[in-house]
Amino acid sequence: MESRRVSIFDTTLRDGEQCPGATMTHQEKMTVAAQLEKLRVDVIEAGFPVASEDDFKAVKEIADRSSYSTIAGLARAIDRDIDRTWDAIRGARRPRIHTFMSSSDIQLKYQFKKTKAQALDMVKAAVKRASDYCDDVEFSPMDATRSDPDFLYRIIGCAIDRGASVINIPDTVGYSTPEEFAGLIRSIRENVEGVDSVVISTHCHNDLGMAVANSLAGVEAGAGQIECTINGIGERAGNASLEEVVMALKTRGEFYNAYTGINTKEIFKASRMVSDFTGFAVQPNKAIVGRNAFAHESGIHQHGLLVNKKTYEIMNPEMIGKHSEIVIGKHSGRHAIEKRLSELGFKLGEKQLSEITGKVKALADKKKMVEESDIIAIASSVVGSVPDEKRRLKLISLSVRTGTDEKPSAKVKLELHNKIVEAVGNGLGPVDAVADAIKKAVRYKIVLKEYNLKAVTGGTNALANVVITIADRKGRIYTCEALHEDVVIASANALVDSIDKSLRAGDRNIH
Ligand code: KIV
Ligand code: ZN
Repeated sequence: MESRRVSIFDTTLRDGEQCPGATMTHQEKMTVAAQLEKLRVDVIEAGFPVASEDDFKAVKEIADRSSYSTIAGLARAIDRDIDRTWDAIRGARRPRIHTFMSSSDIQLKYQFKKTKAQALDMVKAAVKRASDYCDDVEFSPMDATRSDPDFLYRIIGCAIDRGASVINIPDTVGYSTPEEFAGLIRSIRENVEGVDSVVISTHCHNDLGMAVANSLAGVEAGAGQIECTINGIGERAGNASLEEVVMALKTRGEFYNAYTGINTKEIFKASRMVSDFTGFAVQPNKAIVGRNAFAHESGIHQHGLLVNKKTYEIMNPEMIGKHSEIVIGKHSGRHAIEKRLSELGFKLGEKQLSEITGKVKALADKKKMVEESDIIAIASSVVGSVPDEKRRLKLISLSVRTGTDEKPSAKVKLELHNKIVEAVGNGLGPVDAVADAIKKAVRYKIVLKEYNLKAVTGGTNALANVVITIADRKGRIYTCEALHEDVVIASANALVDSIDKSLRAGDRNIH
């Protein structure tokens, strides 16, 4: 049997954005919509136009700007919603009205306060009205998985009869299991008249953590569209995650006998964007887009990977627009560090490699996980460092005192031209106090031109990278960079290194 193309319907901007705390600004919605087009999603559900003026404007602008994807707007099964939705999406190259009505007894009785007969009438009228506006109409019987199957077949039959082209089956409360969900899709295909002429879609929520499994089971049972969101954001526990369903179909395409049209290289960017805009962090071990999804720590895994990536990687991180990172922990070996650094263009001698490995492992002891950027920074500092025997000035030790109720002070011990010198200094902060102490100890006139501090990787245990630029008394400029987990020590090292540079440049005229 020939492989089927499954459509990807992204509802990040509707079901995703409507969940508490995930609100995006108008501009952010435009940026996400543009990224979804780059991803080549088949359908973008841009919002719920009747919900507010802002929603209407966002849906309309996304529709007007769209070029590739179908733009859907959500509407309850009432005239006002259908009309407003059409107004919002009519400018799209491919507009779709998505209308819904509950089909479960519990929701009909307690939320909608409608009988089954009334619900059927509403659906007939709404789908008919939508079809008069637009060729592409989707109908969702909300809470389908908890509905009486016979009533479900009837309501779907009515929607098809009035012109629906897509029938979406929501597991609204994330209650279903994969086998059950597949069974439901099969039974709909067997029991509803006219169903062969429409696309069946899945819309699974993740309350029991089965949204992706249910969606894929739906595909196995014949569904031709999956509704999902970037990073799986959405009501409560969220929706099926787009990156997971897409990569499952890409990686296991032969098993599912299906594929999507998604440009997977845009996945990682889309994930970061949605996480940044909503403030919803992606858990580190999240499949496909989590920070650790392609990170290999154990020495055995790393060694295997270096020989042949397929030993431990079922997907290639480049496929989602990310490159594979080796995370170094205390179980990692010199092997991995050497390979990665050589790929990054470092040409290292044995001694340098040992020094780098030692420093990386020492950091891993303190920090648990050393990221690639840490390793690059350490390697750069080792490569750029001056051998001890050539130095004129070295930091031997330092201590600082600071606090809310005391003036920061520092004590330094240095080796200057093979002699020990010491001094105490004060300053506005501990770094300033250390700089004062160093200048007093060496009695060398310099002007601090620039001081730059940045964390190499996130977190309070990050490596601090300090770059200092000084001018000596002849006006010569020296810049040095130093790296340490302690920001004060990193600053002291950068300052000492720049004075040392100046001293080595010929100015011995001190003391
Ligand atoms: O979860 C749900 O049932 C929905 C419908 C509106 C499709 O989001
Ligand atoms: Zn939903």
